[in-house]
Amino acid sequence: MVLLKHLVSVDQLSVPIIEGLFGRVEEMKAVARHHASQLLSGYIMASYFYEVSTRTRFSHEAAMIRLGGQVIGAENAKDFSSAAKGETLEDSIRIVSGQADVIVLRHTDIGAAKRASIVSRVPSINEGDGPGEHPTQALLDLYTIQNELGTLNDITIMMVGDLKHGRTIHSLAKLLCHFNVKIIFVSPENLRVPTQIRSTLSRAGVEFREETDLASAIPQADVIYMTRIQKERFADLDEYERSRGCYILNAPMLEDAKPKMAILHPLPRVDEIDTNVDTDPRAAYFRQADNGPFVRMALLAEMLRPNGNSH
Ligand code: NCD
Repeated sequence: MVLLKHLVSVDQLSVPIIEGLFGRVEEMKAVARHHASQLLSGYIMASYFYEVSTRTRFSHEAAMIRLGGQVIGAENAKDFSSAAKGETLEDSIRIVSGQADVIVLRHTDIGAAKRASIVSRVPSINEGDGPGEHPTQALLDLYTIQNELGTLNDITIMMVGDLKHGRTIHSLAKLLCHFNVKIIFVSPENLRVPTQIRSTLSRAGVEFREETDLASAIPQADVIYMTRIQKERFADLDEYERSRGCYILNAPMLEDAKPKMAILHPLPRVDEIDTNVDTDPRAAYFRQADNGPFVRMALLAEMLRPNGNSH
């Protein structure tokens, strides 16, 4: 497998890299069951989060600890690290990269992960750079699709909600360019998927279309990927108020959905999926979240100890 020093964007992920990672996920599930690995014993991960997070941070920290490593961190780096004194991201990363063996970073600004990777002396992983990208989420989304449907090819994926600000959408749409998929984007006019992502898909020959109506495309979908309207990204809160609640998936809407399909959501949900969907066997969003630590274990193992055995 081609080694990655830093993971900044899904643009760095080729099919052999993806397959190499997914090939290790089963092994990681066994490691987690047996509480057994010392693969990353003696390694320190710095968990550096300038933006709120529950799943991603816990998932990454659990992944490191499951592999025998340790974690240092700032969960509110904007207020409780030297950033509050005015230190630049670059200087903070220079310091942290002298103290840890890997840095996982979530930041408010597009491009922050790239800036960090330029100055970091140790591997760094982008866990979300503002409305930019979220590559590890895309990896676990892709893994979940494969696991739920048994394939990543000849499938139709609906992506619904705030496609403009949703970094998980941006990363997943680009990652799907490696496979034979069709994408149906469903969003309000003001929250359409960015032009840059549409151009990437066109260049890769991915068939896609844009719609505003959720219900009509449901029968064609093998995957419905719901997303939250990203309140924190709106400069104008009135615009947010006008957009919130625009798509709510509920159980009756799934009557004409395929019997074998998967409903995904990176979570947290606000109101995009009614809780009456949760008991539907096709509701895969909690299984999707459960896959997070295993995919991140595989990533940490590949980045830090590519030839190491996790048992
Ligand atoms: C997403 C994020 O932070 O971009 N959450 C996550 O990492 N699972 C999605 C969101 O916040 O809506």
